[in-house]
Amino acid sequence: MKVKFTETVLRDAQQSLIATRMPFADFEPILSEMDKAGYYSVECWGGATFDSCLRYLDEDPWERLRKIRAAMPNTRLQMLLRGQNLLGYKHYHDDVVEKFVELSIKNGIDVIRIFDALNDFRNIKTALEATKKYAGERTVASGCISYTQSPVHTVEKYVEMCKELKSMGFDTICLKDMAGTMSPYEAEHLIKGIKDAIGDMPIILHTHCTTGMAYMTITKAIESGVDVIDTATSAMSNGTSQPATETMFYALQQYGIDSDLNEDVINKVNDFFKPLKQKYIDSGLLNPKSMGTDSQALVYKVPGGMLSNMIANLTDMKAMDKFDAALAEIPAVRKDLGYPPLVTPLSQMVGNQAVTNVIVGERYKNISNEVKNYFKGEYGIAPGPVSKELEEKILGAGNSPTDCRIEDSKRTGEEFAKAKEALGDLATSEEDLMSYICFPQQAEKYLKNRKEKQANKVSYTIVKE
Ligand code: CO
Repeated sequence: MKVKFTETVLRDAQQSLIATRMPFADFEPILSEMDKAGYYSVECWGGATFDSCLRYLDEDPWERLRKIRAAMPNTRLQMLLRGQNLLGYKHYHDDVVEKFVELSIKNGIDVIRIFDALNDFRNIKTALEATKKYAGERTVASGCISYTQSPVHTVEKYVEMCKELKSMGFDTICLKDMAGTMSPYEAEHLIKGIKDAIGDMPIILHTHCTTGMAYMTITKAIESGVDVIDTATSAMSNGTSQPATETMFYALQQYGIDSDLNEDVINKVNDFFKPLKQKYIDSGLLNPKSMGTDSQALVYKVPGGMLSNMIANLTDMKAMDKFDAALAEIPAVRKDLGYPPLVTPLSQMVGNQAVTNVIVGERYKNISNEVKNYFKGEYGIAPGPVSKELEEKILGAGNSPTDCRIEDSKRTGEEFAKAKEALGDLATSEEDLMSYICFPQQAEKYLKNRKEKQANKVSYTIVKE
């Protein structure tokens, strides 16, 4: 028996613990060592890394990916992709989604883990087809289910979803428990049920330590036949992050289960990140709140990234005293929205609306545009029935949401033309245009900076000569 490891320190671990603020320079020295570890894959891109590179770190996300690729030629590089949302917070046109996947593979991605926040699989179809179209030898299309608990989410429903992912043509299936609320009992029933239904297709479990259950849940999942587990090197593990790589490796050895990991290498990786962790604690980037165990999340179903973002937003607004009230408002907002899984962009949508409800002091006095669009059906089909009262308030009496994938018919290339026109000579590649399409303001700011820096460099060289 074998269980393989996906190392998350470069993406989810740092996204969950330090709001994705780890610059490339911080982890560059360890990449060639990580390349020898024997991971199933290294999750290093996608999720919030793209946005964060442009917005906070003055980095080109594509260049980051190419540098990781060059430093880790032997390792499968993995990204998380939000289906039709790509790495942003809205639905993009099909031609944009296709080009994004093409460029991701071209710049070095091997494993594309694709999910839709609502598990509306119409929203992951284009990304899957593009992955297949541009696939290289090592490319893996991983169909991902956003796991949550609610009156409308049953084991039978999840098994049905897995069957659908298999028939769509995905290579592997990932259960994504972003809030860390999957119990050992649930893991056992789910994984056994799924294995029975889909045979030998590899199953991956992604969870978080937020509630303290992850080690138990992963252990049960392994006993039930899971093939790959997501872990983070110890220094960047636990709390809102993943379980520790070295700890799980040790436990598996005791079980007599092989993992392909090289013990010396994973220990070196951990030693490398220890002082970085201390640096993040000292600078305040790593909040002790993110490192602890929060069993309240079992009630609120709040994923790690959402928690650290809420803490950051409320701290900015000097309203941390409203934290508990905002947390308590989340389940109510979620019920009104038909129990969406709390994952990007739904986690932000529900989190921000809960914070707004609490700060304003009246529920839905201010409704965000995102929530309005959600009720219009722009994100897909809600998993359960939504609040009729809120629906009427947003859509007007007698109106119902448009039950369709609104971008279906738009394959026009208009986004690229717009980006070209807006950027002019700031854009020097298709990747630049794509950055702009995804995050216009942030990309333009980054590209202007880049041009200035290049201009300075040129004049400096001339002076020197
Ligand atoms: Co996660």
